[in-house]
Amino acid sequence: MPEIDPWGDVEIGEYSEKMENFGIEPVSEIEDMMPENRLVRRGIVFGHRGMEEFLEAAERGEDVAMMTGIMPSGVFHFGHKTVVDQILMYQDMGADITVAAADIEAYNTRDMDLEKSRRLVIEEYLKNYVALGLDLDKTDFYFQSEAGNRHQRRSKQFAKHLTQNEVEATYGSASPGKIASALTQYADILRPQFPENGGKKPTVVPVGIDQDPHIRLTREVASKYQESEFLKPASTYNKFMRGLQGGKMSSSDPKSYIALTDDIEEAKQKIDQAKTGGQDSLEEHRQEGADISEDMVFELLAFHLVEEDDELERIRSEYSSGEMLSGELKQIAKQKVEELLRDHQKKRQEAEPRVEAFLENQGI
Ligand code: TRP
Repeated sequence: MPEIDPWGDVEIGEYSEKMENFGIEPVSEIEDMMPENRLVRRGIVFGHRGMEEFLEAAERGEDVAMMTGIMPSGVFHFGHKTVVDQILMYQDMGADITVAAADIEAYNTRDMDLEKSRRLVIEEYLKNYVALGLDLDKTDFYFQSEAGNRHQRRSKQFAKHLTQNEVEATYGSASPGKIASALTQYADILRPQFPENGGKKPTVVPVGIDQDPHIRLTREVASKYQESEFLKPASTYNKFMRGLQGGKMSSSDPKSYIALTDDIEEAKQKIDQAKTGGQDSLEEHRQEGADISEDMVFELLAFHLVEEDDELERIRSEYSSGEMLSGELKQIAKQKVEELLRDHQKKRQEAEPRVEAFLENQGI
């Protein structure tokens, strides 16, 4: 099996090893040029390919694009929010925004029918994206199954530019369904550069590192395709938030995540039950302090609940010195989660009719 499997279980950690093995550059080196954002400042967006060109073009005021995709799996949780926050960062920059709903991929690799994908994408993803601030009027949003003839044609033609060796080295012995969805994804990634979308332009694709195999082959295809000109897409990689109990955050295990539509009391209970880095006894805790790196509540604060670095640093130092207890940390997280969910759920209600109207107007 190749080292990164885009359809397998998400592996957490070992980011620096993967960066080295695959030639992913550290974001820290280009941080000055990146837009101001807590995910960037905190190293949660840690790696990239080709971002210098993208950022320089943006700086010169040229047309740039951001493209990413959603694989419908289950409810929309804080793990998913990491990518949405990045979409919004590029939207604020003035980039063209393209979002693909990966219903063909879900059909081919997860045995999910197109109707179910559609419902999940609209209810769980689109409505939450809009509530968080996605401006649909400025977004090219589409389902892979309805991407249009030019999109489908190119996605098939891209196959010509890859060798058997490249495909096997990248995906192992992937099934036809996986290969078809990979080819569809190359077209997704190059879509902002299609002639009918204004032609070639620097494009960034913010993803988890599990998607890097697709990025690598899209960059390959982009440089070889003859029928129209494409720049190699740039990419950034974000760390995966771990589940509240430690280990993997998974849509099939509600205790591992907080959904943005969770009942507030339920969300607070999940925080109460989360794995912390606190020591077993009070005495030990006061003496040794908490192990922040194994604390899932602190991770939630750092990824999504605390915007100000000063505030996060204060919590980090008090908690790791033992001055703050796990219970007190959880109290902070519960209060912040309550505020965030209350605000989000109101916005989501307001977003619903807008999303319905958008889908109807666009005939999607
Ligand atoms: N394969 C992605 C996933 O599993 C979804 C996806 C489809 C995507 N098309 C894309 C991601 C284009 C980034 C860019 O989540």
